[in-house]
Amino acid sequence: MKTLSAGTSRPYTIHIASGLLARAGELCRNALPQAEKLALVTDSSVLPLYAGPLADSLEAAGFQVRCLIVPAGEASKCPEQLVVLWEQMMQFGMTRTDAVVALGGGVVGDLAGFAAATLLRGIDYVQIPTTLLSQVDSSVGGKTAIDLQAGKNLAGAFWQPSLVLIDPDCLNTLPDQAFSDGMAEVIKYGCIRDRAFFDLLDACGGRAGVMEHIEQVLYTCCDIKRRVVLADERDTGERMVLNFGHTIGHAFELAGNYETWTHGQAVAAGMNWAAQIGVGLGISPPEAVEPIQNILQKYGLPIDIPCPWDTLTNAVLRDKKNLGKRLHLIVLEALGHAVPYPVTFDQLLEQLEAMCGR
Ligand code: GLY
Repeated sequence: MKTLSAGTSRPYTIHIASGLLARAGELCRNALPQAEKLALVTDSSVLPLYAGPLADSLEAAGFQVRCLIVPAGEASKCPEQLVVLWEQMMQFGMTRTDAVVALGGGVVGDLAGFAAATLLRGIDYVQIPTTLLSQVDSSVGGKTAIDLQAGKNLAGAFWQPSLVLIDPDCLNTLPDQAFSDGMAEVIKYGCIRDRAFFDLLDACGGRAGVMEHIEQVLYTCCDIKRRVVLADERDTGERMVLNFGHTIGHAFELAGNYETWTHGQAVAAGMNWAAQIGVGLGISPPEAVEPIQNILQKYGLPIDIPCPWDTLTNAVLRDKKNLGKRLHLIVLEALGHAVPYPVTFDQLLEQLEAMCGR
């Protein structure tokens, strides 16, 4: 078993091991010594795969477990579903020493995490991510949220989990498309903080190769994220490097109305664009671009996505609005080292024009 300690405002442990689901009971008991009741939140797709063995393990450790099921899909990350969970948790008779367990991908983790952050002014929760994307990204770092009509993740809280349990065996049931999506974020960690890791992923060459090293891959991603979050838990500085490829990626997601392109595909193409824009700004080495394009294609990810000019500039403007006067584009000083780089909107427009051949 690989273990990491995340020393955030509420410190917690991340365990990574094959077969961990069956040991969840004892590990939750250690992390939640006072809890009696656990609300096990999962979705309709994950329920038949993993909820039964997990609930058995938790009950064997002495917890009273109630399974709360939300429909699979992003639409569940909404205020209405949050209220349903709050009510179900109170009907279960939960108190401030009880806890939530989130079993599933990013939607379940974000929603259940926000329910835990807000119920009774904040109770403990455990993340048990089952997709590659959630194992390397959303389960670590304490960002919880729901979507509003005005946009994604607009209501939420920074609320650190009490424990994260990552079982790579859950990836065996993941469709290839979902695995590729997760790989976009995995590759991102190599780009932003670890050239040797980037080279390892390049050598793995595809899903089968990655699965041969999966515990190491998950450990490296979580370790990088843990270190970045430790330096900037509330996302006002260094944590922004985790958004490499995401500013332009948001535009691509919007261009496809969040249906045509997945988050991973949009981030992949966004990373290729960000690498080239970094070169245009004179910050990134030109030789960083081709390896990024090659590795994305190896993992079945796009390096470009058609996007109307207005969608592109509006998405960039939205980031500008979110961050204040200056836009911080995440650029590579080297392949393996990203930095937030302050640009004016006009500077960025010039780069986007060059990319679009305008
Ligand atoms: N997913 C980016 C972050 O947690 O900051």
